[in-house]
Formats: sequence, C-alpha cells, structure tokens
Amino acid sequence: MLDDIFDYVEHIRERPVWQPIPDEVRAHFRAAAPHAPTELAAVHDEFMRYILPFATGNTHPGFMGWVHGGGNVPGMLAEMLAAGLNANLGGRDHAPIEVERQIVQWMRQFFGFPETASGLFVTGTSMANLLGVLVARTAALGVGARRYGIAAGQPRLTAYASAATHGCVAQAMDISGLGTGSLRVIPINRHQQIDLDALEQAIAADRRAGFTPFLVVGTAGTVDVGAIDDLAGLARIAAREKLWFHIDGAYGALAILAPDIAPRLDGIACADSIALDFHKWAQVPYDAGFILVRDGTLHRDTFASPAAYLRRETRGLAAGSSWPCDLGPDLSRGFRALKTWFTLKVHGTEAIGAVISRTCALARDLERKVIATPKLELLAPVALNIVCFRYRGDDADRLNSNIVADLHESGIVAPSTTMIDGRLAIRAAIVNHRTSECDIDALIKATVAFGDAQLRSCAA
Ligand SMILES: Cc1ncc(COP(=O)(O)O)c(C=O)c1O
Repeated sequence: MLDDIFDYVEHIRERPVWQPIPDEVRAHFRAAAPHAPTELAAVHDEFMRYILPFATGNTHPGFMGWVHGGGNVPGMLAEMLAAGLNANLGGRDHAPIEVERQIVQWMRQFFGFPETASGLFVTGTSMANLLGVLVARTAALGVGARRYGIAAGQPRLTAYASAATHGCVAQAMDISGLGTGSLRVIPINRHQQIDLDALEQAIAADRRAGFTPFLVVGTAGTVDVGAIDDLAGLARIAAREKLWFHIDGAYGALAILAPDIAPRLDGIACADSIALDFHKWAQVPYDAGFILVRDGTLHRDTFASPAAYLRRETRGLAAGSSWPCDLGPDLSRGFRALKTWFTLKVHGTEAIGAVISRTCALARDLERKVIATPKLELLAPVALNIVCFRYRGDDADRLNSNIVADLHESGIVAPSTTMIDGRLAIRAAIVNHRTSECDIDALIKATVAFGDAQLRSCAA
C-alpha cells in the first residue's frame, strides 16, 4: 500500500488531473454492506481500481481549481502514524495534545499574539469562521447568551464584511442564530478590498437605527481574486467602534511566512481572531483548519461545558486542563496537529514561505501570458495567486463554462470558474507546490485550443 501511494505521488504528473467516473465504477459503490470479511489486499486492489484514479486531482500540478493544497509526503506519513496511535485530542493528558499546543504557540509567534491567546484545530476555515463569530457573540452578549439564547431582550447585533467575503461567513451568522440579515455586505473597491468609508457609514447608520454593531470580518486572500483587505485600516475602525475584529485568512494568513508578501498583511497582529487552513498554502493533507483567538479566556467561556464524566484532575490521565474540547464544539477530535507538525518540521517554514512566493510569481506569469494572448482577456487584477480571465467571444459565459468543462475532461489542467462583475471567469488559483511554468503554459495553450474548437463547433 505504501509503495503504491508513493508511486502515485511520484508519478502524479503522468496521470490526468481528473477524469470522469465511469458508470461501472460508480455502480461499484452501490453494493450492499459487507457481512463477511474481505482480504485486506483485495480491498486495497479495489481502492487502486475504483478510488485512486477518480480522485479530485489536487495533488496534480495542473490542478488550479477553487483553493486546494497539493498535500505532501511527510504529512501523508504522519497521517498514518496518527491513525496508528488512534489518538483522541478532545482532552486528557498525553503528548499528542502537546503537539497541538506547540502549533498554537507557533501560531501566536507568527501572528504576534500574546501568550494568553488560544488556538484550536478544526476541519477548515468554514468551521473556524463559525467559531470566531461565536466567540465574538460571547464578547458582545456575555456568557448568558449561551444559557438564555439570543432572542428576547437582547441588543440587535450587526456584523460587517465585504461583498467579496466567502459565503461561510454568512453561514456562520445563520448557524450562530444571529441571522444572515444581520451581516451587512459592504461594497468593495476596484482592488476588491472592503471599502472602509462605506464600512464606517454602515456602522454609523446601524447605530442611528438602534442596532449594536459587534463584529467586522476582514479577509486575507479573497476567494475570487485573492485580494487582501486593508487589515490595518480595519483594525483602527474596529478599535474605535469597539467591534470584534475577525480575519478570514483561509489561505492568505500563512503568507506571513513569505517575506515578500507578509508586509501586505500589516494589521493582522491586531485581530481578535484569525481563521486559517494549513491544508491550503501550507500543503498539509486535508483537513487541517485552525482558529487563533487573542482572548483565550473568552474563547473558553464560549465553549467550555463542564460535565461529571469529563472531570479534570491534577494527576493521572485526566489532568492537563484546559482541554481542546473547552475551545470548540467537538469532543472527539483526531490528531490533525501531527501532519501539520511533520509538514512544518520536515520542510521548515522558510520552504513553505518560498512555495507561497513562487505560486504568486506563477500567477503573475499567467497574468502576463493572458495579457499577451489576444484571444484571452484578463478579468481582474492579480493580487496574490489567483488569475481570473476568459476566452473572448460571443455568449462568453457559456463559451467559457464549456471550455472549463473541456479542460477538466481533457485531464490537462483543472481551473474552476467564478463571476467577476457579472461575467463568468476561468479562475486559476495556483496553490500547489508542484505547479510550475509548464503547467501555466499548458493552461494557456489548452484554453485557446478548446476555445477555438468551441467557436468552430458553433460555426458548423
Ligand atoms: C477566503 C476563504 N474563506 C473560507 C474558505 C472555506 O474554507 P474551508 O473550505 O477550509 O472550510 C475558503 C475556501 O477556499 C476561502 O478561500
């Protein structure tokens, strides 16, 4: 099994990025639950035939869709070790929790947070943003809201985020009971950053109307184009207005490791909470989301739920309080920290920073090549590692969505799509450490070839 997966990773470039699942393969997953045992080797053989060839493809250098990291081998091996230990990181006194605590400590140092800051591994930034909203809710309403809810007699809380903010922030408002209608969507400037004047006006209007502004969410690396909000400007407004300042740094926050990009995160050290993913730019295998909270006490007050069966002791296995289960909704938690620890230690933070810088350089290379190709059109300025462009033509939305499907089915490259100013864009997010200039060239070449073919088939 190890040999096969090493071969897979080593020879990933020779495979298609993605291929459609044939009907007979899909049918394989409709079989009834197995009553009798099957040889491990036979199950592995099924994996090799029916699963491995039809994966997402984000280990492949030609994968450029959404925001997917490429994974890495030490992280993969660490995942096996973690499964062997079968550690549960909800709580108790054992070394795996010390590993998670060490990463929390490293994150405090990366982002200039105090020793009293807390941190927690979660699935991904969608969950980390939800936790951030919940801690902000406690800051605004006190712990009483946990007991009595947020309905009767409470101030009507309002939050603020730009129109370019990821949808999971609105979802966090929904799940936290505050309602998506309480999230004010602030316009963006031409760099797709939150418009600070519009933000101040919205806050003032809400105060006049009797609302209680409580939270502002900034983004470090927007999902569509990779814009970084003016975090220092947001920090100033949050401090003046006494708002919780949360940063969605899903992939952009770790650019703190890239010396050429880190200055653009100026202000991140002033955040009250930061959500980020190690499974994106840091290439840790899925999933490895993380939240860092400046006020560790408030973080604990938001989630800690004492129970007799989780009693803490001063010695024995039940020592070592506080436990990670005090910082989030999960009691059973896997050892996500180990694959992150291995990745950071084996490669070192300098190498991870270099990957981040290099993917941004590749995005600038792609931008230049798009501009130099008359049949293509750039749809947004390239701020970080995401390039939005399209093939020129009539009915361009349909044309370009067909081109992207053709690209996927060709197995050459896999960008995704998004809408920029109401126009469908081919969106290439360069995240994978294996991506190189030849993949950028392949994207340009294949886009033009499929665009030409689409036009020919329309004309025929
Ligand atoms: C800016 C931003 N926020 C949040 C998310 C959601 O992160 P996750 O998929 O890890 O939940 C993403 C995902 O790409 C993102 O780009």
